[in-house]
Amino acid sequence: MKTINISSQITECEKTELSKDDLELVQSSESFLKNAYAPYSKFSVSAALRLDNGVIINGTNQENAASPSGTCAERTAIFYANSQYPHNKILTMAISAFYDGKIINQPITPCGACRQVILETEKRFSQPIKIILSSSNKCLIINSVKDILPLDFDSSFFD
Ligand code: THU
Repeated sequence: MKTINISSQITECEKTELSKDDLELVQSSESFLKNAYAPYSKFSVSAALRLDNGVIINGTNQENAASPSGTCAERTAIFYANSQYPHNKILTMAISAFYDGKIINQPITPCGACRQVILETEKRFSQPIKIILSSSNKCLIINSVKDILPLDFDSSFFD
């Protein structure tokens, strides 16, 4: 029997330390928080994607009275981007959230289902996606979803 240690690299920074492009993407995600449809949880989430053609795509969570029928901001944005621009890579994703009338004060992290979809997108385009998890002041920067999805499941199991 042996223990396997799995390590991840995550950078924490102040919003003011972000590059100009990354700050623009975070601000873009924040500006779309008002478009979330979250009457049940009151937790609005927004994701902004920067594609390799320079286009920014935005998506927000869209809830449903029959809860599994709703979808998270990250998947709204990724599926829209891949539908509109099927040949363009997603380079960066910024995620922000609003609760109780204000931007949350700890960086929002994607749910497990969204992590799996981000992984599929990275593999499909052979392109790691930089993920910026933002809050009112601090951000976490992750260079690939693999850092937050250890022992991931992918098509290599049945290829
Ligand atoms: N939500 C997202 O949109 N993204 C996440 O990463 C976490 C959760 C949404 C789903 C639901 O509409 C609300 O937040 C509360 O779970």
